[in-house]
Amino acid sequence: MNIAVLGAQWGDEGKGKIVDLLTPNFSIVARYQGGHNAGHTVYAGGRKFVLRLLPSGILHDGITCVIGNGVVVDPQALFAEIDELAKAGISIGDRLIVSDKAHLILPYHRELDLLSEARRGERRIGTTSRGIGPAYEDKIARRGVRVGDMANTDTLSSAIRHNVEARNRLIGDSVMDADQVLADLRAAWTRMAPWVADVSLFLSRARADGRSIMFEGAQGTLLDIDHGTYPYVTSSNATIGGVCTGLGLPPRAIDGVLGVAKAYTTRVGEGPLPTELTGDLGNRLRETGQEFGAVTGRPRRCGWYDAVALRYAVRVNGLDALALTKLDVLDGMEELQICTSYRCHGKTLTEFPGEIAQLGACEPVYESLPGWTHPTAGARRYADLPKAAQGYIARLEELTGVPAAVLSTGSAREDTIIRDESVAAAWFGK
Ligand code: IMP
Repeated sequence: MNIAVLGAQWGDEGKGKIVDLLTPNFSIVARYQGGHNAGHTVYAGGRKFVLRLLPSGILHDGITCVIGNGVVVDPQALFAEIDELAKAGISIGDRLIVSDKAHLILPYHRELDLLSEARRGERRIGTTSRGIGPAYEDKIARRGVRVGDMANTDTLSSAIRHNVEARNRLIGDSVMDADQVLADLRAAWTRMAPWVADVSLFLSRARADGRSIMFEGAQGTLLDIDHGTYPYVTSSNATIGGVCTGLGLPPRAIDGVLGVAKAYTTRVGEGPLPTELTGDLGNRLRETGQEFGAVTGRPRRCGWYDAVALRYAVRVNGLDALALTKLDVLDGMEELQICTSYRCHGKTLTEFPGEIAQLGACEPVYESLPGWTHPTAGARRYADLPKAAQGYIARLEELTGVPAAVLSTGSAREDTIIRDESVAAAWFGK
């Protein structure tokens, strides 16, 4: 059984914890898009780990982790992460496979990211400044440099010289040294080469051998380059289609899709967020939920649960179930709101609009539900949740159209409720 776990909102839904929790029931965890813009936080054995590029399964012994062709790889960021884990006693050994077709993030991509944001001024996207967008731009423009190119000195040298010259012409004032970039890449290849392989072939053989795979998404549905709130999105396909293109697998390789969503909504960076709360309530969610970016430390924008956006994520990804995270952050709130539709230019919308100006003009229509005083924090059985929390979850399920099969009530692995009767129970080995 191969399952995809992906973000159903604007990223930061808590995918890291859910992937880590599911991992023991799989043999391989594969990332299919994004890069080290992701920040997947996992608490294990009382320690906090933030995984950026490495799949969140890496903390478990014996699990093979795969970085697919759809991912953009900054070799220095990858090594820094591997070194950090080594310091914490976690060894990668031969448990990592990196696609030879994955594109590299090079030093000029980071510069171009900053430059492009500065030039956009008011229209800036609020990127993570990791060079993600410019690396994908080069890929689509067919001038990108791939991991496998590092094996061939001539190919690498001519591509890097050409790209660095173009960068020097564009930026002008500070000239980048192509020889230095090349020397760094040669050193990087020496370290990376043992992990590099044909990921599509590796995964299809693994499937034939009956090994199960978890596909780990980064960012979220509404940050998807095609289906997100364009142009305020990332540069890759975070939605389900990215699994096939980003790993070289057929659609039938995916047996189930678990969407991860918070019990409320957050977004980091620019772009519309219909249920955003700017006052005290927003601050309360941010402080209680510790809503600060795992990669950049930026405060996240917070708001109520948006069932219109969630229904859209269910449709685009074919979600079978939801993992609902951070339920405990709502503990102690007197009253909760759920956005059930939007009002836009005098009309009621029940479907998520594809056009950014229209989304920006949408006002949320709310339904109020009672909050709860008895805490959900740390609850490990559904029956232990206060009745009002159970009512809130039931209403979200009704509005979203899929079961909330997994509920997360705290940051530790153990603070999780897996509903026994749910489809996800089988994925968790229940
Ligand atoms: P980029 O991916 O760095 O180009 O940033 C594009 C947009 O995606 C910005 O709004 C970022 O804040 C957002 N973004 C990128 N990665 C993540 C993530 O892992 N979580 C949440 N937002 C993200």
